[in-house]
Amino acid sequence: MNSSPIAGLGYVVIQTEDTDRWNVYAESLLGMMQSRLSLPDGMSAFRMDDRMARIIIQPGPNRVASVGWDVRNSAAWEDLLHRLDRAGVTYDTMKPEDAAARGATEVVTVTDPAGDEVEFARQPFNDAIDRFISPNGVRFVTGDQGLGHFTKAVRNYSECVHFYLDVLGFDQRESIDIKIRASFSGPNPRHHSIALIDGDGHTHPHHIMVEVDALDDVGRCLDRVLKGEAPLTVNIGRHFNDRMTSFYMSSPSGLQVEYGWAGLRVDAGTWVEYAQGGVGGASLWGHQPAEAAEHGAVSGGLTRAVD
Ligand SMILES: [Fe+2]
Repeated sequence: MNSSPIAGLGYVVIQTEDTDRWNVYAESLLGMMQSRLSLPDGMSAFRMDDRMARIIIQPGPNRVASVGWDVRNSAAWEDLLHRLDRAGVTYDTMKPEDAAARGATEVVTVTDPAGDEVEFARQPFNDAIDRFISPNGVRFVTGDQGLGHFTKAVRNYSECVHFYLDVLGFDQRESIDIKIRASFSGPNPRHHSIALIDGDGHTHPHHIMVEVDALDDVGRCLDRVLKGEAPLTVNIGRHFNDRMTSFYMSSPSGLQVEYGWAGLRVDAGTWVEYAQGGVGGASLWGHQPAEAAEHGAVSGGLTRAVD
């Protein structure tokens, strides 16, 4: 069984040059619900469930500003801080008002070995009174599997894998060491909450994945993408490792969003860590790159960063 103090992927802070477009995209295409979380001017937050903030939008140059991980409980919080101390990872504690704007009671921030801002949140805010109702009628798969997963190419692959596996205590579920290097790991039953790809000296966010509970909702979203509501980057297909049936599109800030259904839920106690032994590709079928794909050659949702 895993012993990570982390419960799962809690929230993602997306910085965008066009907050209006991202707000429309989150609601009308992804089916997320605007949150009543109190935020500074120009920012917004979106819900996928009872949690008050799953996607947080802030104005500025396009980038993933931060990725937030939920910590299980107060004992796990102490465990996390000890783990960071032992590994020599310095952390900053957010002011309570800033933590509240992340939808959590307490937040610490670190820089991971890729140079990216990573946050850890204790006691996230729930709003079960104003219950989650999707503008599209979709239902997201979250709960003990967290928000979904985040995939990025990293310039110092081995150090990053060490950080997520050894410092944070994620279980590695699968790795690829032939042609490309990639690590798929997580702290909960979702097959992977983070995927790290060797970026050949470059760090670049690749995508976030959100999962809905009906294949028809993936198809309906794809229909709207094909009508031009967002650029398609990877066509529909089914992944080899997490069995997700999904497609990828470009969000208004350029970050790709994978929209999926029926991802594999693993039993951490019996799961055997696999390696993809050179069979090639990341998909059982489909996932062909679309013309709009950016950031180099895309293969089944995996990419090598080129900038
Ligand atoms: Fe993915």
